[in-house]
Amino acid sequence: LPRVGGFKRPFYCYNGWYARLPSLVSAMVAREHFQAQPTDVLLATCPKSGTTWLKALLFATVNRSSHTNSHPPLATLSPHQCVPSLEFSVYVNDRIPDLDALSSPRLFGTHIPFQSLPASVIDAGCRIVYLYRDPKDCFISLWHFANKFRAKDNIELWTLDEFLEHFSNGISPFGPYWDHVLGYWNGHLERPQKVLFLKYEELMQHPEVHLKRLAEFVGCPFTEDEEKEGVVEGIIRLCSFENLSNLEVNKIGRSELAIGTVENSIFFRRGEVGDWVNHLTPEMARRLEEITESKFRGSGLSF
Ligand code: A3P
Repeated sequence: LPRVGGFKRPFYCYNGWYARLPSLVSAMVAREHFQAQPTDVLLATCPKSGTTWLKALLFATVNRSSHTNSHPPLATLSPHQCVPSLEFSVYVNDRIPDLDALSSPRLFGTHIPFQSLPASVIDAGCRIVYLYRDPKDCFISLWHFANKFRAKDNIELWTLDEFLEHFSNGISPFGPYWDHVLGYWNGHLERPQKVLFLKYEELMQHPEVHLKRLAEFVGCPFTEDEEKEGVVEGIIRLCSFENLSNLEVNKIGRSELAIGTVENSIFFRRGEVGDWVNHLTPEMARRLEEITESKFRGSGLSF
């Protein structure tokens, strides 16, 4: 496979997208072995688009009980343990797990681009929820995330300029970012009833509207009684950045992922819309906006 960049941990290009070796290998193992069921729900995202939030919201929705506000699994497990990622937690270390015993609907996360999903995902007709986010915020979030790994390994930190150069050229985990979004967008246009599109910024602005949409899409709509009892608001509160990031499991817990052992707190930073203004120069922002405009032109997608 083409190896890219003179990085300490190089990227490889496969089927039009980039990844580091451990996640690429487990993505390939998942592609080979994952047998989707029609009732499965796949939570697909480009890294740093709000995967953790989406996992928590869907897990709490699908497993809701009358005691939503003290939902036990989310209080003691990280959202990434509740909803495992195919390529980061399920198919790692040459493990081929038996997933048949999991109760339905099974929820899985994935960053695998649409064109490389396991064939059974499309064949079985399982549902996909795709969450995307302003690339400027994704970029800043990813820059912080990557530098935390570098700091841990005593590797010189990425400057914003260097990182922007790579990101703009499409070299980012599971990137190019824009192709990732467009791949799922085309999947949505082909099968709108199977691929739901959701924007981080809109979810932040109208969480109730979109949580109800999500619940209907995964076949667990809220009843009128539940709505009256405040179940929707309860789940939103439970999964808020404020609440999740302050739970002990997410403050001091750790998870074993394909990329190594990570502190659960690494998935929580600010959880805001528009933090890019605190980091990007106007030129840097314009560069990302211009790429977004030209890549998304004619697609119906915009920011
Ligand atoms: P920031 O770095 O901008 O704060 P992912 O889960 O895909 O890795 O994305 C991580 C981003 O989502 C981080 O963004 C993180 O802070 C934010 N995030 C995590 N939990 C969240 C929540 N409950 N609500 C909103 N944003 C959240």
